[in-house]
Amino acid sequence: MPKFSYPIPRTAEITPKAAFLNRRAVVAGLTAGLATGLAGWPTIGRAQPLPGFTSGPYSTDEDLTTKEVATGYCNFFEFGPAKDDPAQNAHMLQTDPWSIMIDGLVDRPGPIDMDDILRRFALEERIYRLRCVEAWSMVIPWIGFPLAELLAYAGVGSGARYVQFESFDDVSVMPQRARSLLDWPYTEALRLDEATHPLTLLAVGMYGDVMPNQNGAPIRLVVPWKYGFKSIKSIKRISLTASQPAPTWHVKSPREYGFYANVNPGVRHPRWHQATERRLHDGTRIRTEMFNGYGDLVADMYAGMDLEQHY
Ligand code: MTE
Repeated sequence: MPKFSYPIPRTAEITPKAAFLNRRAVVAGLTAGLATGLAGWPTIGRAQPLPGFTSGPYSTDEDLTTKEVATGYCNFFEFGPAKDDPAQNAHMLQTDPWSIMIDGLVDRPGPIDMDDILRRFALEERIYRLRCVEAWSMVIPWIGFPLAELLAYAGVGSGARYVQFESFDDVSVMPQRARSLLDWPYTEALRLDEATHPLTLLAVGMYGDVMPNQNGAPIRLVVPWKYGFKSIKSIKRISLTASQPAPTWHVKSPREYGFYANVNPGVRHPRWHQATERRLHDGTRIRTEMFNGYGDLVADMYAGMDLEQHY
């Protein structure tokens, strides 16, 4: 059973604001490094520290997955289907400049750029469990801020009930995605109460560093009580809607990829047995917990729902 230390933040590790505001230089350095044409991005040696974050709530104290594993064993199908494809191919992604378009039922529609995001929202580290529907799991120290803060900034319009996310999509940057299986761009969606839940994070870094491209740079979603495919990478657009969107994997195979996709060992999956999971850091197999162990924080949102029916 995972142990969480919430809601009291762990030790604060505040870095001077000047260093934090220097992110542009960090990203510029990163881009320049890539432009030198060094192959095999990223290596651990080239990771860029992300300054200016504190320790946030809801962290588990379980052993971390190593950074090598979390950055080398990835699902980012735009960059190819094999687990090591994203680490090999995602160097093509240019993450500076970057903006997210916020539209639909919001009071302040329009683009917001990464520098503005990083100035406005305080970053915190949160160590979350990540459970993939393929029955493996990791424990990752993300750095980010609650999605709720961005939505409050945009102003949730009356009638908004869902939030849809769309990933970056450009076949010239992601030639591997042409021969892959999905309808691009990759989209995902949450109900508004899920999107504004304090656990739901927009992550811009991991392991103390700027988010590696293959993990969804420069900004991705992390929803720890749901299967990993809900945690969409390299977000370019966030739209608030009145009706339930149709996310990419859900459209592809609704039985395998439910709209809710809450981690649930009781739901029969046609391909992967969900009762247990393989932890990638030590290869052990553990029992899968309902809501990935976050039930005391999220179960209320689904009171009265048949969670097998509404997988
Ligand atoms: N986002 C995009 N745009 N494309 C993807 O293929 N894969 C999803 C999710 N986000 C995916 C994505 C899946 S299936 C998982 S398990 C997680 O990202 C994996 O995140 P990680 O590679 O950082 O561990």
